[in-house]
Amino acid sequence: MNVAIVGAQWGDEGKGKVVDLFTSKAEYIVRYQGGNNAGHTLVVNGKKTVLHLIPSGVLHEGKTCLIANGVVFDPVVFFKEIEQLVDAGALGADPWNRVRVSERAHVILPYHCLVDKLREEKASKSAAGKIGTTVRGIGPAYEDKVARRGIQVIDLIRPEVLKQKLAKAIEEKNILLEHYFGGEKIDLDSLYAECVTLGEKLRPYVANVRGILAEALGYKRPILFEGAQGTLLDVDHGTYPFVTSSNTVAGGALTGSGVGPTAIKQVIGIAKAYTTRVGSGPFPTEIEFTEPEMAKKIRDIGNEYGATTGRPRRVGWLDLVAMKYAVQVNGMTGIALMKSDVLQDFDYVKVCTAYRLGGNTIYEFPTSSDDLSKVEPVYEVMPGWIKYRAESVCGISELPEEMRNYVKFIEDFLKTPVVLLSTGPGREETLEISDPFRS
Ligand code: IMP
Repeated sequence: MNVAIVGAQWGDEGKGKVVDLFTSKAEYIVRYQGGNNAGHTLVVNGKKTVLHLIPSGVLHEGKTCLIANGVVFDPVVFFKEIEQLVDAGALGADPWNRVRVSERAHVILPYHCLVDKLREEKASKSAAGKIGTTVRGIGPAYEDKVARRGIQVIDLIRPEVLKQKLAKAIEEKNILLEHYFGGEKIDLDSLYAECVTLGEKLRPYVANVRGILAEALGYKRPILFEGAQGTLLDVDHGTYPFVTSSNTVAGGALTGSGVGPTAIKQVIGIAKAYTTRVGSGPFPTEIEFTEPEMAKKIRDIGNEYGATTGRPRRVGWLDLVAMKYAVQVNGMTGIALMKSDVLQDFDYVKVCTAYRLGGNTIYEFPTSSDDLSKVEPVYEVMPGWIKYRAESVCGISELPEEMRNYVKFIEDFLKTPVVLLSTGPGREETLEISDPFRS
């Protein structure tokens, strides 16, 4: 049985913890979109580890972690993470036995990060405002991919074709950098030399990831497809233009790794018991200005600061209108509800079940980001639950009744079961209600 996990909100839902748990059931863990804009914080044996690019399943021995074609791949970040993992003794003697990178993945080069940064700086001075990207070069790298001037991983290990491709890739960049942004041009020779060195280092990790997956499927080996970011940041289905540049929805796992739709049987949406967002864009249930003290409380207890950029996350109540939309666009079969422990000891919690827009009550997630920025959330106010000791909770029935009611309300509204409930940050503070690898 193969499972995809996707973010059901605006990212940072706690996917890292779920991947870490599900990895014990899978043999292959596949990252299929995004790049090092993601940040998975894992707490293993009380030790915090943050990974941006390498699938978080890497911490488990005997598993193969694959970075597939749909990812935009920054080799410098990759080697930083590999070195960090080797130093921590987490990778064994031959790290390339555990981590493979698709020949087809597109490479993030320094000019992508530069354009991302300069564009954000310029946009922040304009009326439209900036996107609030992670400035990791993600958007510009995907732009080059679609414009057919990208550099793929395979090009890095073929110096004989690389120089010509790089020359083509930077032709327009240099005009943009020099004349539009007023910055420095890229020097082809030094970039080429840098790429050749990186390519040599990367060679043992480079593989035909699609082929590895085809073989795994043939032998019915369990595969976990690990999504990054969240549904509402999807370039097609998210709050455009305040989105990332890839398909974060479950469909992205297919094109992003080269498997067919029948390969994935279960799609688990990861959601927090509340909502957060980083960067700009509409966020209907945001409470930053309406309930600032509550926002601060949730942010502090939930440690809602970006794993990649350290930015404080915007905080709000759970938005079931948005989640219902996420259930639909992903074909979600189950939900992993994370960080419910953050809301313990609250007098009340709120859940958004509809929006008010232009005097009407609406139940559908609006297409236009402009409309979404104008909606007023309609809330169901529910009683909070008392503090519980997460480490001593062995089953749902041991949780406070109000918390169980909250979970039931979510399941009923979304007509989708909660298959996993995280009751605290540690690996062991998790209730696995059903196993998607067996259903
Ligand atoms: P980019 O992916 O860096 O281009 O950023 C585009 C938008 O996606 C910005 O609003 C970012 O804050 C957001 N974003 C990108 N990656 C993540 C993530 O892993 N978690 C949450 N938001 C993200």
